[in-house]
Amino acid sequence: MPKQVNDNLFETKHVSNDSYVREQYVDIHCHCLAGLDDGPATMSESLLLCRALVNEGVTAVAATPHQLGRFSGCNEAAQVREAVSVINEELKSNDIALGVMAGADVRVDERICELLEADKVLTLADGGKYILLELPHEVLIDIEPLLIDLASMGIEAILSHPERHSGLGKEPDILLKWLECSAHLQVTAGSLLGRFGPAAQKFGWQLLSSGWAWLVATDCHNLDSRRPCISAAFESIRDELGETIARLICIENPLRVLKGQDIAVYPVSTRTRSDGGKPNSF
Ligand SMILES: [Fe+2]
Repeated sequence: MPKQVNDNLFETKHVSNDSYVREQYVDIHCHCLAGLDDGPATMSESLLLCRALVNEGVTAVAATPHQLGRFSGCNEAAQVREAVSVINEELKSNDIALGVMAGADVRVDERICELLEADKVLTLADGGKYILLELPHEVLIDIEPLLIDLASMGIEAILSHPERHSGLGKEPDILLKWLECSAHLQVTAGSLLGRFGPAAQKFGWQLLSSGWAWLVATDCHNLDSRRPCISAAFESIRDELGETIARLICIENPLRVLKGQDIAVYPVSTRTRSDGGKPNSF
């Protein structure tokens, strides 16, 4: 059964050091649990990654190990919940100020609704409102039927890193159709900084500046090629789209997701970029 979100995890206060005030981020997509997927292999690696998240200013995360796809039959909900309980104990005893909630990065699969009902697949923060969905990388499939089935269960999909899918950039109409079925888009922080190549960088910025994507997350896996870089992404978004939008995308909406609240958007006309508000410019 979905667990109630513990509000103590969100007691985030600005850390002030003289004139310097750090932003405090919330991450809805990170692979920080040990030994479950292609994230950290051991607890010590996991704690190093959690420390890096804290150093970035992250205070609360949904741990989102892969479910289904190549991890089909692994990482079922009970196992992830147990791993979350263990890491929270380890974080406490190692004095690492990060709150971890259960979640999953769920590969699109026709069995998802049935597996949600059987309590095998997890929603974000175990809250029953949002599911993080990963599209197959190699093909573009229309997930509208799945989105409709999820909606009938009261669940909204958040599509992880659409900017990294080569097919979607050429088919913006399909994305628009999914958005009309209550899907949300999560852009990966590293994409905005060019860490997944120029095409993903360009498409990621287009999704933000057009008002199609209202969430950014780290999707961190390790301290090398997939390290968390939310603070640099926040600064870039603030420079491009302004402080209000940056805070909404990197802090307020992720927090709303983890609390099971509706995602907030602003009219695209409030954007500062000259090319904002033109989704068909993809
Ligand atoms: Fe992921």
